[in-house]
Amino acid sequence: MAVQPRWILGISAFYHDSAAALLRDGEIVAAAQEERFTRKKGDAGFPINAIAYCLRAGGIRASDLAYVGFYDKPLLKFERILETYLGVAPRGFRSFEMAAPLWLKDKLYLDRQLREGLGFAGEILYAEHHESHAASAFFPSPFEEAAILTMDGVGEWATASFGRGRDHDIELFRELHWPDSLGLLYSAFTYYTGFKVNSGEYKVMGLAPYGEPKYVDLIYRELIDLREDGSFTLNQKYFNYLTGLTMTNGAFDKVFGGPPRVPETKLTQREMDLARSVQVVCEEVMLRMARTVHRETGLQDLCLAGGVALNCVGNGRLLREGPFRRLWIQPAAGDAGGALGVAQLIWHRYCQEPRWVTPGRDAMRGAYLGPEFSPAEIERYLEAQGAGYERLDRETLLRRVAGLLADDKVVGWFDGRMEFGPRALGARSILGDPRSPRMQAQMNLKIKFREGFRPFAPSVLRERVSDYFELDCDSPYMLLVAPVKRERQIPMPAEQCQLWGIDQLNVVRSDIPAVTHIDYSARIQTVDRETNANYYDLIQEFERLTRCAVLVNTSFNVRGEPIVCTPDDAYRCFMRTHIDYLVLGPYLLNKAAQPEWRETGDWRQEFQLD
Ligand SMILES: [Fe+2]
Repeated sequence: MAVQPRWILGISAFYHDSAAALLRDGEIVAAAQEERFTRKKGDAGFPINAIAYCLRAGGIRASDLAYVGFYDKPLLKFERILETYLGVAPRGFRSFEMAAPLWLKDKLYLDRQLREGLGFAGEILYAEHHESHAASAFFPSPFEEAAILTMDGVGEWATASFGRGRDHDIELFRELHWPDSLGLLYSAFTYYTGFKVNSGEYKVMGLAPYGEPKYVDLIYRELIDLREDGSFTLNQKYFNYLTGLTMTNGAFDKVFGGPPRVPETKLTQREMDLARSVQVVCEEVMLRMARTVHRETGLQDLCLAGGVALNCVGNGRLLREGPFRRLWIQPAAGDAGGALGVAQLIWHRYCQEPRWVTPGRDAMRGAYLGPEFSPAEIERYLEAQGAGYERLDRETLLRRVAGLLADDKVVGWFDGRMEFGPRALGARSILGDPRSPRMQAQMNLKIKFREGFRPFAPSVLRERVSDYFELDCDSPYMLLVAPVKRERQIPMPAEQCQLWGIDQLNVVRSDIPAVTHIDYSARIQTVDRETNANYYDLIQEFERLTRCAVLVNTSFNVRGEPIVCTPDDAYRCFMRTHIDYLVLGPYLLNKAAQPEWRETGDWRQEFQLD
């Protein structure tokens, strides 16, 4: 009789960015974030849609699952919240009342919810939050043995941890505890500079190069007591996240010279200087932690996860200046990746199953782990919409799209399985020509409806990366930042150096200006043929036409909206924006050939657009 495969479902939920991941005999079959299905950015609810998708992708029912894993321990987390509030009562009572019903309802009755919601009668296992992050960093990595470092806002008690992964187990040696948290320090500045906590951190990082590190000394003097080994104490006098509904308080305002920026109001040099300053401090903490991990493990390779590992500028510095030879970063480094981590912990630690590593290749399948749609499904949708489209064979399609891109057109590119994690990697992307000096402003303002200062990322053929950037390693998940190659940089004349902050935006800085940030850096995605043949061949076709092996790649969504998941999401986004052409699998759609688009409801309000 054939041996039945063992299926394990991992779940992360109830904090932010809920997700589900499915393993078949230890192999990653599917993973997706709930927000993509509910269209609510960072959806923290029970990920019933992501779970349903994973089961569908595996062709199984919940009753076929051997185990279900949850990415943290709700009771430990509850203990931390309770102790925090009891410790500071009555100051914290108000927000405790607001938080408690959610905790009581969703988190403590998780077991019942999992059973009733799923119809699952088997064993449910819980991992610690940072163990889940650590597992997601090490198990899918291309290393047989490596050091592990996790850093985030907070799990149960831990805010950072480090240790070692070897063969099929991980061991964490040390933890940093709440309320001393690098993630929360960064989020405090995200809040203070007028961006949304848990999603605006990326904007702070993008804004940083426009500013001067004017507040670094002040941060060290007042906010953080940073020790040589990278551990630190935050001065709670200035923060409000323990007890209040905001991140910073009046004492913080006093020291930093005013109240937080009101969201959506004009950005000033002050916010840029604040962003630069917290980024500098964050990088210093990351570097010190990495040196400690290196010293204590004696290992050459490092795996990273936790929300702070999405700080790709910091990762780039770790690679250039840190003690490790190689880095591998979990693409879903935030809490969504915990769903995958706990499933892998169950397989390797609980079931004691071995781990097989292919040198030089990770187990994430390029992070293309989400839903895909067949040509027949896409065509049915297009017919129902009355959309204008052409079906093209692969070669013709790639040639046409490369030609459109070279002609300065913006193309929505929807192909194959959706990405797991926050970055679009050529499955749900908006593409453009990086040589165009107008592309950055055009894409930011007319397509993404977002702040003009935000940089765009390049996708480059893996074997050509060192021709364009000061980098010569894999960066498949867009999690490393490196400078544009020196020969390609265009130095700024003296009068342009005088320009302040955002005024520098329109200065052409290299021969690929649309992906060259103000400090000549770029957030790089290397593309190899084995993980995404269509995308690779498209870039190669573009290179044949233009002698440029780089494309602008930004996520297929508008500001405030999750990345598109289905052909319908993609078509809507296409019709609402100035995207010129849309590719849906083998179909090519020209905006000019579409029927008139009628909105139902106020979508700009829905996505909080200006
Ligand atoms: Fe986390």
